[in-house]
Amino acid sequence: MFPVPLHLVDHPLVHDALVALRDKHTPPEHFRRAATRISVMLAAEALRDLPTRDMTVETPLGPASGRRIQGDVVVVPVLRAGLGMLDAVLELVPDARVGHIGLQRDEMTAVASQYYSKLPSRLDSSVVLMIDPMLATGGSAVAALDLLAQAGAPTIRMICIVAAPEGVALVEQHHPHVVIYTPVVDRFLNEHKYIVPGLGDFGDRLYGTV
Ligand code: PRP
Ligand code: URA
Repeated sequence: MFPVPLHLVDHPLVHDALVALRDKHTPPEHFRRAATRISVMLAAEALRDLPTRDMTVETPLGPASGRRIQGDVVVVPVLRAGLGMLDAVLELVPDARVGHIGLQRDEMTAVASQYYSKLPSRLDSSVVLMIDPMLATGGSAVAALDLLAQAGAPTIRMICIVAAPEGVALVEQHHPHVVIYTPVVDRFLNEHKYIVPGLGDFGDRLYGTV
């Protein structure tokens, strides 16, 4: 159905957090915690193939072999809603480098415009994880992916919390090699380009700016 490499993350704990985020009665405090919970699991899935190197440590009872992450991870939240997923990713990969891309959808046209960008160097040798909870028309995702591609990121994966078919299709059209990790692809966009049923405006609910 979706030609783009789309990875549907199906886990009871993901769905439990997602339904809390969807619930319009969930206040910002609980919304933020559910966003962190779900983001931990989405990021873990998106980073499942990270390279590792073998190593040995000494436990109090002797040597134990294990593996450590090898290489550089760059996480890029799309402001502002993507910031609600950042702490979760940094909890998993504490030494990740962080880039920021600021995009804002026009309320009337839903067209995204860029107001900020600060990306780390050497993206060409990094695993790049873009984080933005909502993939609606896909305009913001494509704009952010364009910036990352221009900055030299060869392979990019992105996580979102709710996707719409239109957004998945637009990413596929412009960036066919990007893998999208999401728990769900919802039904459609309404006349204001909000995802239905979705969860409303993620940034407003995260920061209480409704
Ligand atoms: C939201 C969301 C995405 C974008 C998705 O951000 O976080 O970036 O909309 O919509 P699209 O796929 O149609 O582009 P918004 O522009 O509302 O800004 P905010 O994060 O500052 O609230
Ligand atoms: N941005 C949001 O926060 N929610 C939507 O449904 C679409 C774009």
